[in-house]
Amino acid sequence: MPTDTGQDSTGGGMSWVSVRMRATRNGQHVSGAERLVPAVYAVTVSNVLVERARRHASGEPDRIVLTVDRVPHEAVRFAPILAARTVCVESATEGRRAAMERLRSLGVSEKAISSAMDALTHGANPFGGNMRGAMLIDRAMGERLERDHKRGVRVSFVDLTPEGRARFDVCVRGRGDVSRFRDALVLASKVASLPGVVADLCWSDDPAYVAGYVAARDGGYVRYPRLKERGIPFGGRAYFVDAEAFDLEKDIEYLQSAPVLIEVNDPSVFNEF
Ligand code: COA
Ligand code: AMP
Repeated sequence: MPTDTGQDSTGGGMSWVSVRMRATRNGQHVSGAERLVPAVYAVTVSNVLVERARRHASGEPDRIVLTVDRVPHEAVRFAPILAARTVCVESATEGRRAAMERLRSLGVSEKAISSAMDALTHGANPFGGNMRGAMLIDRAMGERLERDHKRGVRVSFVDLTPEGRARFDVCVRGRGDVSRFRDALVLASKVASLPGVVADLCWSDDPAYVAGYVAARDGGYVRYPRLKERGIPFGGRAYFVDAEAFDLEKDIEYLQSAPVLIEVNDPSVFNEF
C-alpha cells in the first residue's frame, strides 16, 4: 500500500509538478510520456518531453500537447518499485505459455486469462483496434469491470522519485535505451501498489516492439522478450482485480489521478533484469 507523505527526504515541503505530454499526427495518437518532479524542474522536463515527442521513432507529430499541473507535496504518495526480472523465451508462443502459467499461479482463472489474451491478440477495443487505456478484468469470472470498454483505465500521475531515477540510471548503464522498460515498470509499480489488483498483463501495440510482461506485487515484474510476433499492430494492458477488494470508484481514481512517486530503496531489484 502506498504511504501518505509527511515530511520526508524526497520532497518534504517542496511543491511538485506533473508534466504530461501527448503527441498526435493527423489526429492519431503517436506518443505520450509524463514526469512528476520538483517544481523547479518544470521547464527542463517540459523541454525534454517535447524533444522526446519530436524524435519519436514513428516520425514527427503535427501536434504536441503539454500539460503542467502543480501538485502540493501533501498530495504526493509513495510506493515501492517492483523487482524486475527477465524470463528468456524464444518465441511468442513460448512467451505466452510462460505468461499464462504465471497468471494462473497468481490466482487468475482460466476464463479471465483467455478473455484477456484474446482481447489483446485481436484488439481490445470493442469498436475495433486498440484501447486507449487498460482493461479491468475480474480475476475469477473474467468479466470486464471498467465502464468504458473503448477507453479503459489510463494510469497517470506517476514517476520515479529523483533518487530512484538516479539509482535506476546507474543500475541499467550500458544496457542501451531502456526508457520503454523504465516507463512500463513505473506504471506497473503504481498499479501493483493497489491491494485489489492481483496481476497486470501487457504487450505493446507497436508492431516493432514484441516484449511484454506480467507484473504483480507478489513476485514483481516479469519481462518476456517475446509475447507477440513482429508486425502485429495489436496490444494492450489487462489489470486483473479481486472484485471484492477492488473499489471501482476509489481505485480507478487512484490509478488515474493520485500523484504517486515510485521509490527504489533496494538497487538489487534490477539484478535479474
Ligand atoms: N493511446 C491513445 N490515445 C491516448 C493515449 C494513448 N496511450 N493517451 C492519451 N490519449 C488521448 C486520448 O484521446 C485521451 O482522451 P480520453 O481520456 O478520452 O481517452 C486524450 O489523449 C487525453 O488523455 P489524458 O490522459 O487526459 O491526457 P494527459 O495529457 O493528461 O496525459 C499521457 C497524457 C499520455 C501522459 C497519459 O495519458 C499517460 O498515458 N500517462 C502514462 C505515461 C507513462 O508511461 N508514465 C510512466 C511514468 S515514468
Ligand atoms: P504501449 O506500451 O505504450 O505500447 O501501450 C500498449 C497499450 O497499453 C495501449 O494500447 C493501451 O491500451 C494501454 N496503455 C497505454 N498507456 C496506458 C496507461 N497510461 N495506462 C493504462 N494503459 C495504458
